[in-house]
Amino acid sequence: MTRTPLMAGNWKMNLDHLEANHLVQGIAMELKDHHHDYDRCEVVVFPPFTDIRTVQTIVDADELGIKYGAQDVSIHDNGAYTGEISTAMLDKLGCSYVIMGHSERREYHGESDELVGAKARKALDAGFTPVLCCGEALEVRKAGTHVEFVLGQIRAALAGWSAEDVAAIVVAYEPIWAIGTGETATSQDAQEVCGAIRQALREDFGDATADATRILYGGSANPGNIKELMAQADIDGALIGGASLKAESFAEMARFYA
Ligand code: PGA
Repeated sequence: MTRTPLMAGNWKMNLDHLEANHLVQGIAMELKDHHHDYDRCEVVVFPPFTDIRTVQTIVDADELGIKYGAQDVSIHDNGAYTGEISTAMLDKLGCSYVIMGHSERREYHGESDELVGAKARKALDAGFTPVLCCGEALEVRKAGTHVEFVLGQIRAALAGWSAEDVAAIVVAYEPIWAIGTGETATSQDAQEVCGAIRQALREDFGDATADATRILYGGSANPGNIKELMAQADIDGALIGGASLKAESFAEMARFYA
C-alpha cells in the first residue's frame, strides 16, 4: 500500500500570470533550498486558466519537479460553449491534473454530482488525474449526516465506474464550513470522513482500489496543522487554498515529513 502524498495548491481566482510566475519560482526555490524530494511528496499547483501557459513555460524551461493542473474543465470537446475550456486545450498546456466539483463551483455554478462525475470521466479519458471534490455544508454537519452526504456525492459521481478507473483518481474531502474560514476540521473529523470514503471505495470497488486511491483533506489546511492531518491513516495529502498563495507556507506543507 504505497500512496504518494500529494500537496495541491488551489489558487482559485487569485494571481495574474506575472504573479503566477513569481509564485512558482518562489515555490521551486524554497523546495530546492530544502532538498525537497518530489518522490516523497508530489507538488501540484492549480492556477487560473490565464496563468497556465506561463506556468508551463517556467516548469519546462527550468525543468521543475512541480506539476500543475486546471481548476475545472468542460465535458464537451469543442464548439459553441462560451467561456469553457476543453481537455485538448489543457493537454497542450502540459497539465496533468484537473479539479472538478469544488464546492464553490457546485454552489455558484449549480454543478450537480452527475456533471461532476462526467467531468471526472472526461478528464480521466483524456489522460489527466481527476481531483474529485466533495464536502458538506455546516447545516449537514450539524444534523450529523455528513458522512452519508459525502458518500452520496462520491457514489453519484462514480456510478458505473470500473475499479481500475477509480484507483486512478484523487478524492478531496473539503467540508464547506472549513474552507477559507480559518476553521479547520479537527484531524479526527477529517479522518472520520476520509476513512469512511475509503471504506465506501472498498465496498464498491474492492481492496486494491481502496488502497490505491488518494484521499486529500481541504479546508484551512496550513503549516500549523498539516503534520497532524498527514498523520491520519486515510489522509494522503491536502488541497490548499489560502496557504498555497505564499511560497514559504506551501513549500513548508509539501515538506510535512521533514
Ligand atoms: P482554504 O481553501 O485552504 O483557503 O480553506 C481550500 C479549498 O477550497 O480548496
